[in-house]
Amino acid sequence: RSTTTPLARSVPFAVSSPLPEPTGAVTFPATFRWGAATAAYQVEGAAGTGGRGESIWDVFCQIPGAVHAGDDGSVACDQYHRYREDVALLRDLGLDSYRFSTSWARVMPDGRTLNRAGLDYYSRLVDELLGSGTSPWLTLYHWDLPQALEADGGWPTRETAYRFADYAVAMYEALGDRVRTWTTLNEPWCSAFLGYTAGVHAPGRQSPEDGLAAAHHLLLGHGLALGEIRRRDSDASLGITLNFTVADPYDPGDPDDVEAARIEDGFFNRIFLDPIFTGTYPADIIDDTRHLGLLDHVRDGDLELISAPIDVLGVNYYNGAAVSGHPDQAVPAGQNRPDGVRSVGDGPHREVSPPQPVGSVHHRSRGLPTTDMGWEVQPEGLTRLLLRLQADYTGPREVAMYVTENGAAYPDQVRADGTVDDPDRIAYLDTHLRAVAAAMEAGADVRGYFAWSLLDNFEWALGYSKRFGIVRVDYETQERTVKASGHWYARVAANHCLPP
Ligand code: NOJ
Repeated sequence: RSTTTPLARSVPFAVSSPLPEPTGAVTFPATFRWGAATAAYQVEGAAGTGGRGESIWDVFCQIPGAVHAGDDGSVACDQYHRYREDVALLRDLGLDSYRFSTSWARVMPDGRTLNRAGLDYYSRLVDELLGSGTSPWLTLYHWDLPQALEADGGWPTRETAYRFADYAVAMYEALGDRVRTWTTLNEPWCSAFLGYTAGVHAPGRQSPEDGLAAAHHLLLGHGLALGEIRRRDSDASLGITLNFTVADPYDPGDPDDVEAARIEDGFFNRIFLDPIFTGTYPADIIDDTRHLGLLDHVRDGDLELISAPIDVLGVNYYNGAAVSGHPDQAVPAGQNRPDGVRSVGDGPHREVSPPQPVGSVHHRSRGLPTTDMGWEVQPEGLTRLLLRLQADYTGPREVAMYVTENGAAYPDQVRADGTVDDPDRIAYLDTHLRAVAAAMEAGADVRGYFAWSLLDNFEWALGYSKRFGIVRVDYETQERTVKASGHWYARVAANHCLPP
């Protein structure tokens, strides 16, 4: 393998070219839901207000070098104080749904005891949304575990799953009359493996065993919470959001690259999909992790709970990946990996472990354009992903799919007249919506799409350095400015149609 030959010519990819030039109008069904998404720690701020307790992210942000520029979410977009303005923004954009998460530590500062003031905030937010005609889509856990529960062992500890179910019940009892779509977890892969194995997300542990234990207990928490809500309400729409990779072997003729793609697919996608949809861990994952004790955490009845039927699968997709079993000497230290992990050697970042608990997986460039995250733009991967999910998981069980996150960070510039022109983001959203439409055309049951994100916000370990919003946030003044992509997306949602 030569690292100097231009990649696009040296390797026959499974996907050899980007989508054909997008042309022609594409129409979505009238019932298709159009929304935008955020998450509590990324937008709320008000970290010390209303009795909110500390979460693992409050603590992680204080570790020197853990987060870009020492940023944290203590103020973020101040949505806690500005939710009325943000709900008005959603209405002005004509979006019918808002996906947000609730902060467990706001509602239960010690992870166990109810804080009325915290619950009241979400009640006001939900009322505001409903009052302006926007459907709330509530995620119970978007990575911000109460620190008190981390002190008791965090997600690698079984007890945390039961505390999560209690929290879910409290939220359901307060908001279930008004919130009709509930997702338990957002991207448990990140919580488990970026948080407990790679150590680049809170709480920053670096242990393959802990990552696997966390993965199982997150799934158990999902199953327990799902059961509790289902028992109280057979009509609510319930599910989970997973993040997916579409991993192609960099060189399909190289067995090590094929093996890397298997590992990536296994420890990213199937380790969550299979328990949820089939009630089993994949056989190859079980084999790979014998020495790491995954099955030691699985008790009788767990997989039945975890595989209880869901109504909706949230699909988060950002990029494709070409993976290899061999390190690429040409990749400079510090380059962002597609999964958000930085390779060793960049600035304040600490040494990090690989996120997958076993094997050797290296992300390689195949010459596709990349976003400001360093993530390759590969819309065709989304079509393939949705069709695979439909065929192997959701279709046979009549589970509806929603793209609960898709979007791109670009280094937007504000023009002298105050407007933000972000053609790259428009192109990204356009090609990915075309990819969704192509999957639907081929039979995927996709019912809606949420742009990530409504607002520029706190991008976890990368702090405020990456902007994903369709609305710009000036962090000095908290002023919101709808970007050109926001205006574009509003037209798409209004017309249910992509322009030619
Ligand atoms: C997925 C996560 O759910 C979200 O919190 C994050 O900001 C985006 N990906 C972009 O990295």
